[in-house]
Amino acid sequence: MKILVTGGAGFIGSNFVRYIYKERPDWDITVFDKLTYAGNLKNLEGLDESRVHFIKADICDSEAIDNAIADTDAVIHFAAESHNDNSLFDPSPFIQTNLIGTYTILEAVRKYNKRLHHISTDEVYGDLELDDPAKFTPNTPYNPSSPYSSTKAGSDMLVRAWVRSFGVKATISNCSNNYGPYQHVEKFIPRQITEILEGRKPKLYGAGENVRDWIHTDDHSSGVLAILEKGKIGDTYLIGADGEKNNKQVIELILELMGKSSSDYEHVSDRPGHDLRYAIDSSKLENELGWKPRYTDFKLGLKNTIKWYRENEAWWKPQKIEAEAKYRKTGR
Ligand code: NAD
Ligand code: TYD
Repeated sequence: MKILVTGGAGFIGSNFVRYIYKERPDWDITVFDKLTYAGNLKNLEGLDESRVHFIKADICDSEAIDNAIADTDAVIHFAAESHNDNSLFDPSPFIQTNLIGTYTILEAVRKYNKRLHHISTDEVYGDLELDDPAKFTPNTPYNPSSPYSSTKAGSDMLVRAWVRSFGVKATISNCSNNYGPYQHVEKFIPRQITEILEGRKPKLYGAGENVRDWIHTDDHSSGVLAILEKGKIGDTYLIGADGEKNNKQVIELILELMGKSSSDYEHVSDRPGHDLRYAIDSSKLENELGWKPRYTDFKLGLKNTIKWYRENEAWWKPQKIEAEAKYRKTGR
């Protein structure tokens, strides 16, 4: 089996590559990545180059995508602009990569009749009230809030249309918030850990009541592998691990695990249009494909993630200065 992993030098993509490298030793993996500010070849260090190949190119480059897809069995499409705060600052790369890039991939898988798995997010469904008993399911209507989530929603719609109109062999997964090693320090959990490591206070947006449904990135990877191997063409699967926590609880837990007072954080201004709550019902993936999350102890997962950032300062230091400079411009 030869797979092409777009965005495989980013956080979730590189963890997926490492997961497949271990779980499917006879598979041949090619990473296709533009290496934006979020991509880093260090994320793939230590993997045998005879099994993991690398193409540096843009998914909007139809010639590069055509050549790469002609030479693979399946495409797992992670490449995206992925951060809400950046999308509020400048939506244009989100339109380009998330919409035009996905369209470019769809045209190539259509031309060469290749299997596609499209990685999306639960944010396409908008947000839930804190006391809403219903969680997101594959039938929840789309209702995205930000330039990030609306372009991801648009990319999902393109995939659905290419399945129905052209018979493209695609599946989609919408996963909840991931955490784990190699996550860029602009994102919530690594930002707070590295703020503490640099001697500053964690930054909580607004009152911190917003709820995210945390999942370890290896559980995301096992879900994607199950869908790739056993999923029904044309179907959407939701991936989540019943990990709902509000942001205040997560910051307090990080502080506690790092030996600080749990009140030692600061409130900063809220994100405009900030989604209140995400929550995933993953019963379809569990019942139909027999998937189960393994990392169900969030405290332990967080402890290991903190350890990783403590031990890999050389990995995150270079991106930290740029990430905090961007935040200073928005007062967050
Ligand atoms: P990331 O920002 O860490 O990585 C994105 C990768 O895509 C980077 O390596 C970057 O260089 C590459 N890339 C960006 N634009 C490109 C282009 N035009 N051509 C080629 N490569 C390009 O993102 P992530 O957090 O790892 O997210 C990966 C995927 O998972 C995204 O599709 C995202 O929407 C989805 N997702 C993320 C989360 C989360 O919690 N982070 C949750 C659910 C779904
Ligand atoms: P983030 O990691 O950006 O993921 P998403 O917006 O895709 O859910 O943020 C997770 C939550 O944390 C979100 O509710 C915004 C909040 N947040 C903070 O409170 N402080 C921060 O410094 C950041 C980056 C995010």
